[in-house]
Amino acid sequence: MELLDGKKCAESLVADISRKVAGYIGSGLRKPHMTIILVGTHAPSESYVKSKIASCGRAGFEGNLIRLSETVTEQELLAKISDINNDPSTDGVIVQLPLPPHINEQNVINAIAPEKDIDGFHPTNFGRMALGQKAFRPATAYGICKLLQFYDIPIKGKHCVVIGRSNIVGKPISIMLANDFDIGNATVTLTHIETPRQLLLDETRRADIVIVAVGIPGFVSEDMVKEGVVLIDVGINRLENGKLVGDVDFAAVAPKCSWITPVPGGVGRMTVAALMINTLMAYENNFN
Ligand code: GUN
Repeated sequence: MELLDGKKCAESLVADISRKVAGYIGSGLRKPHMTIILVGTHAPSESYVKSKIASCGRAGFEGNLIRLSETVTEQELLAKISDINNDPSTDGVIVQLPLPPHINEQNVINAIAPEKDIDGFHPTNFGRMALGQKAFRPATAYGICKLLQFYDIPIKGKHCVVIGRSNIVGKPISIMLANDFDIGNATVTLTHIETPRQLLLDETRRADIVIVAVGIPGFVSEDMVKEGVVLIDVGINRLENGKLVGDVDFAAVAPKCSWITPVPGGVGRMTVAALMINTLMAYENNFN
């Protein structure tokens, strides 16, 4: 069993980005600029936002955080997004999810200018991604692709089973792995909460690659996968004792894997690195 080290891969990608940025700054351009909007004080969001801002520093980007109160109205949030859309000094904007229940997330995502949508959640980017066109790709899914590529994991012709159909991970990674470009050309099965248990087991037990994004600690057990599987654990779950764990029962399942992502230090780090890649793309689009 070998670890798919997201920290190592992310550091290598961010080092490449920072070299490019140093070149741009050396030729007189401004820094790439990411703006993050955080509504309220959701604890996991606080932690994700902190690592995004820290990564901006390492990449040589300007990263700024706009904090809005939990009680902000949807209209006020949309107005803030409109200001950022119209501000030429910001290349990319992220509205950290989840939002409080009184705000419609899709309305908010739809309000972000597609050319600043570094999360790749806007229907324009999601649609372009699905069609195999140039797009900002959803960062977690894109980060998983980059990690597989970094470790030369073969994808073409493989059977991938994705567990979880969220718009931010399961759906986009299924599409990207099945697409006929980049790292793709896999045969993909997308399973979800309505997949009958036996069907789920039939699929995961013959999968070459399993990607799990359900947010349930220990969801993937040793009996669910075959010997030699590549296992990508997208879960980041905080247990009552404070420990951070993924969706895989790591101790039991890891010995069966050819490759597995640790939690922490796996996919989470790659999400942030992919956001940096998207932000650099938004920046470069502004100057080309
Ligand atoms: N919440 C959990 N993951 C993400 C993400 O990738 N982007 C945003 N905006 N919010 C999230």
